[in-house]
Amino acid sequence: MCNLAYGSRILADEESFRRLAPYQQPTPLSDDPWLERALDANLLVHDGPHDPPNSVARLVAALQTYTGAQGSPLELLAAAETRFRAHHMPTPAKEDKGGPLMRKPERLVDFAFDHTRAFLTHDQQPEQGLDLALVELFSHRPAMKLRYEQQYCTPHTTQRRVARMRQNLKPGARVLVLGDDDLVSLALLQATSDYQVDVLELDPDLVAFLKEKGGERLTVLEHNLRHGVPDSMRAAYDLVTTDPPYAANGMRFFLQCAADSLKPGPDSRLFLSTFPGLIENPDKLWTDLQELGLNIEQRHDHFSRYIYNNGYRVEHLAALRALGSPLHPTQELLGFPFLYAHFFECSLQR
Ligand SMILES: C[S@@+](CC[C@H](N)C(=O)[O-])C[C@H]1O[C@@H](n2cnc3c(N)ncnc32)[C@H](O)[C@@H]1O
Repeated sequence: MCNLAYGSRILADEESFRRLAPYQQPTPLSDDPWLERALDANLLVHDGPHDPPNSVARLVAALQTYTGAQGSPLELLAAAETRFRAHHMPTPAKEDKGGPLMRKPERLVDFAFDHTRAFLTHDQQPEQGLDLALVELFSHRPAMKLRYEQQYCTPHTTQRRVARMRQNLKPGARVLVLGDDDLVSLALLQATSDYQVDVLELDPDLVAFLKEKGGERLTVLEHNLRHGVPDSMRAAYDLVTTDPPYAANGMRFFLQCAADSLKPGPDSRLFLSTFPGLIENPDKLWTDLQELGLNIEQRHDHFSRYIYNNGYRVEHLAALRALGSPLHPTQELLGFPFLYAHFFECSLQR
């Protein structure tokens, strides 16, 4: 099992879940390395202090050396950002060299500082209260597939999204999930018996998994959203949620499907997870939302967490280094464990 917190992996079977069960309430932790790892992976709560992960100590040391300053991690980060932007901004590669990352290196720098700041602000200590039953259910999920642009969030994020969405749901509400590698539908059904949930999803393995685990209150259709929502699902839902592809064309048709499937009226809601700093065309997101009549009512910044895998980390470091960024502190600035996304609550102005 992986994709939990701090990039930790923990091997777990049914016995493991029995061992973890007592630690769902704050409990003194015995001197057991397995439990320590489970703590790092956010699978248990305990009632003592917890050391920050090693990556934070490395980051602080690198920032002290780079700035020559002392202070809290956030103060050091601010000083380092000022110095980095003044002296070490990478210069764009020529149009024909490398991919979009190499052509827009300033976005990589924004990303590194933004994510490090978000991590230091929100996630130095593991968050409490992960639902173990959810983790056990999720541990049977099919493998992540890049060909469907999948990048699933942590179980804790799914759990928090569901808690947030439930504040807008009345009994009997109809909910639609557009693409569900985050398994929001299963978490919603597990949390309450009040609603009917439908999913449109392209990945046949995920469709089979959701059908097997979802039971009678879940309807899952294997469907390509490029073809729009089926006629029977238009203007039918009180709440729609989605985490669209980051590629520009994918974002547009997911949002179109969301707008088309919501019931007209002031109470309908779209819950959208995305990160403008990483999507291919951030400016277009705002115009797409406006054109589709989707009005942002609330935004929760850095709400969703996805594992920042080493493949991406190495790619980002290599791009910045090739464009002239210093090894230190660039390497340490890319040491955070999560990719973040904001959570937007939108109404439909139609
Ligand atoms: C688009 S992915 C999440 C993307 C992620 N935010 C990113 O780009 O890093 C969310 C879900 O949509 C599904 N999906 C992708 N393309 C789809 C399509 N054309 N129709 C329906 N579902 C699709 C995926 O299988 C996945 O379960």
